[in-house]
Amino acid sequence: MATQRLGLIMHGVTGRMGMNQHLIRSIIAIRNEGGVLLANGDRVMPDPILIGRNAEKIEALAKANGIARWGTNLDAALANQDDSVFFDAGTTQMRPTLLANAIRAGKHVYCEKPIATNLNEALAIAQLAQGSGLKHGVVQDKLFLPGLRKLDMLRRADFFGRMISVRLEFGYWVFEGDLQPIQRPSWNYRQQDGGGMILDMMCHWRYVLDNLFGEVQSVSCLGATHIPTRWDENGKPYDATADDAAYATVQLKGHNGEPVVAQINMSWATRVRRDDLVTFHVDGTHGSAVAGLSSCRAQSRVTTPRPVWNPDVKQTMNFFDQWQEVPDSVTYDNGFKIQWEHFIRHVVEDAPYRWTLPEGAKGVQLVEAALQSWQERRWIDVSPLAL
Ligand SMILES: NC(=O)c1ccc[n+]([C@@H]2O[C@H](COP(=O)([O-])OP(=O)(O)OC[C@H]3O[C@@H](n4cnc5c(N)ncnc54)[C@H](O)[C@@H]3O)[C@@H](O)[C@H]2O)c1
Repeated sequence: MATQRLGLIMHGVTGRMGMNQHLIRSIIAIRNEGGVLLANGDRVMPDPILIGRNAEKIEALAKANGIARWGTNLDAALANQDDSVFFDAGTTQMRPTLLANAIRAGKHVYCEKPIATNLNEALAIAQLAQGSGLKHGVVQDKLFLPGLRKLDMLRRADFFGRMISVRLEFGYWVFEGDLQPIQRPSWNYRQQDGGGMILDMMCHWRYVLDNLFGEVQSVSCLGATHIPTRWDENGKPYDATADDAAYATVQLKGHNGEPVVAQINMSWATRVRRDDLVTFHVDGTHGSAVAGLSSCRAQSRVTTPRPVWNPDVKQTMNFFDQWQEVPDSVTYDNGFKIQWEHFIRHVVEDAPYRWTLPEGAKGVQLVEAALQSWQERRWIDVSPLAL
């Protein structure tokens, strides 16, 4: 069986996501496995060139990972006809321009979320990609989390009966930077640099809600900046101008047409006492389930205990013990890597691929609707995008 090369320009890979999830856990892992397997038994070996601003940094990263090609000139890389895919995990603000340049240079494009910081730019880049005849995709990594895959299996098995509601709890304490070192980049807390909880996370929740629970119809959202001062990478205090928490309610049209209510709490100013850093609690008439990143626990109608409200006696039930673990029935690979493999098959053998730039634009649409709801203190309807 033959192995063909796929030239891949990778931008933004010195960053947190680009380096860990995309370069090391995805592309290097795929290379170490001998490439992506195609339907005809052939393999595709990604051959990346790493592009970044800082020559020393990018060279060190390439060498540390056994990558022969690197550079600082993105235009020159885009001009190379031997590289047919452009990937971006750089800043969100630069993304639509970089994607547009790559598309105009005839490259297939794949990128991190969100695809833009506003809906106008998101629609423009999605339309450009659609009209180009090139392949395009955006990361929707949460769909590949073991916890959510188990939850989706329960849904497809009709475990929930009529789905009623979903409660999504996301967040953890992000250190301010004065006492303990920060664990997320400081730009995340500056609106002028593309930061903010709503922009960062609502684009994820859009595809999670649409795919697993029901089509998003309407949103009500309250944002907040709970921690107004933080300290940056150099220990310098700065004003946190972006929202660091948001509290939203979303109305969904379930997969069987039923109304589903989704409540979303997301905060970088909360301390965790739940199963995981994100949990999805689904209630249905015939069963409930709670998924974290990797595990999922279920309770059916017939195994539901009978709690009795009595404030005069101490609670004897341990509610956490009353759920059944959904077992790991398959091996779960890294979600970013799985999506890369799908995208590479899409490029090389035209395999079906759903996570396109118009899907990414829907994410930005929910971001904008949530921000508008917060600003105007009212519900905002989310209508189908004209794409
Ligand atoms: N899918 C996910 O779960 C997830 C999680 C976190 C971040 N992200 C997304 O990934 C992207 C990067 O986030 P991150 O947390 O890795 O950020 P980061 O700050 O760690 O990395 C940003 C990258 O962009 C580069 N960069 C910054 N300014 C630049 C400039 N002016 N010119 C050229 N390059 C520049 C940096 O060198 C670095 O490589 C964002 O769009 C973010 O929304 C996705």
